[in-house]
Amino acid sequence: MEAVLGLLVISAGVSHGLETSCDAREDGSQCYGALGGTVYLQLVTDATRYGELSFYKGSTGNKTEILRMKKDKWVIKYTPIKDRVHFINHGTFRLNNTRRNDSGEYLIETFNSVGLASGTRGLQLFIEAPVSSPQLSSECLSHGEMRVSCSSEGDGPQYSWTLDGQTLRDTETSPGEETNTITLKKGLSGDLTCTIRNYISSDTVSRRILPCPGTGFNVFVYFQLAEVIILLTICLGSYCFYKKKTCPQEKDDGE
Ligand SMILES: *[C@@H]1O[C@H](CO)[C@@H](O)[C@H](O)[C@H]1NC(C)=O
Ligand SMILES: *[C@@H]1O[C@H](CO)[C@@H](O)[C@H](O)[C@H]1NC(C)=O
Repeated sequence: MEAVLGLLVISAGVSHGLETSCDAREDGSQCYGALGGTVYLQLVTDATRYGELSFYKGSTGNKTEILRMKKDKWVIKYTPIKDRVHFINHGTFRLNNTRRNDSGEYLIETFNSVGLASGTRGLQLFIEAPVSSPQLSSECLSHGEMRVSCSSEGDGPQYSWTLDGQTLRDTETSPGEETNTITLKKGLSGDLTCTIRNYISSDTVSRRILPCPGTGFNVFVYFQLAEVIILLTICLGSYCFYKKKTCPQEKDDGE
């Protein structure tokens, strides 16, 4: 399976949400659109080169024709999405106000001037909710470590962390694994930034963190303390034992 990642250009939409563009001229392109936004799919370089072009939702065997172009006239064949579709620059399919069920497989079929099939290509469209309103929370653990979590709304969020601009990795996860929770070593402080991204959007949250107040005690200190107490008890015990033995004698001597 050779999936070609379509080129994604993300720009902020004016009022109808996010706009994304995808070059879907190669077979197996993967394209991403923002839920409620507008997605531009470049299907061909110039549709007027073909005798005819059809664009379908679905895959071979189970497909619904959405749009057909003949000469330089195009028509929408699937009425439920008629008011959301436009075909621009003889090659780019625009879909407005995207919904989750716009996700799925699409098919482009081209025919030459005498009506013979000249090619079939597929593309995958994924409609995702943008990541939004990231939140940072932190918690001090015993031993002065700090656990910080980043959360967000949106589909398929990926997290990355920096502290004063340096990439951070959780000590408990293997390199490359991204996680929304990391544990910081004792004594770390600085500007902590969490970046959340999915295919169509990204957002960042930063906060200045101070070292967690370590209790100063750890297991070894407790052991040392226990040792001192045991030693002290032994000393005190031997002292009393000695006193008990000697004191009465001294008393006897005195009398
Ligand atoms: C579709 O979206 C484009 C770009 O956001 C906008 O210019 C156009 O007016 C919209 N069309 C409809 C029918 O909503
Ligand atoms: C897709 O979802 C919308 C609501 O988001 C619904 O109105 C429409 O009927 C659905 N279309 C299909 C083909 O299921």
